[in-house]
Amino acid sequence: MLYNRFPIIAPSILSADFGNLHRDIEMVNNSEADWFHIDVMDGLFVPNISFGFPVLKHIQKHAKKPLDVHLMIVDPDRYLERFREHGAEVISVHYEACTHLHRTVQAIKKIGAKAGVVLNPHSPVSLLEEIIPDVDLVLLMSVNPGFGGQSFIESTLGKIVLIKELMERKNTDALIEVDGGITLENAPRLVKAGAQVLVAGYTIFVSPDPVKTISSLKSLSA
Ligand code: DX5
Ligand code: ZN
Repeated sequence: MLYNRFPIIAPSILSADFGNLHRDIEMVNNSEADWFHIDVMDGLFVPNISFGFPVLKHIQKHAKKPLDVHLMIVDPDRYLERFREHGAEVISVHYEACTHLHRTVQAIKKIGAKAGVVLNPHSPVSLLEEIIPDVDLVLLMSVNPGFGGQSFIESTLGKIVLIKELMERKNTDALIEVDGGITLENAPRLVKAGAQVLVAGYTIFVSPDPVKTISSLKSLSA
């Protein structure tokens, strides 16, 4: 079961305390969060390196909720199977990183994961015109990928509306996920606009009461 009701809340482990990772995983397990958002960065596609399989193995072992893996790496096709073996239920790849995106999306589905496509802030929704019927999820970056704790880019709100229009026109359906700079202040507007999955790192892990912050996000309605 990937979710019960919207919004789906996906805490970004990037902002967890890696010295106390097990504790932070348990916090998410015992909260109203729905997914674990896993940011994988290779230092090439984005100017930062996060973590790889040894850390993911630990997360897989302890996480009791689906792993939503966001690949910020060049040529992600090389590693799809390994991410699946490490428990990825959703695998999202960047439009900007995939020369043969259609093939990559099919490959993700073939190994039994849900396929997501990510758009950077500068990439227009119209790029998804052809691929949209094939994807399970669209992930809109609301910051430039690479780091947690950045400020939300407001134009993302308009992109949510455009994706809904595109899906209606193509008579297809995919989850709409937003990632980056989400706060308790802007989250209600995102959910009202049509965001169904909210990723939050800094807002959750730096708050004095992460479980309560998750619960506040979860209680939002469209
Ligand atoms: C950025 C990552 C995000 C990030 C979000 O490259 O994709 O998932 O962790 O963090 P916050 O919520 O702190 O912006
Ligand atoms: Zn992410």
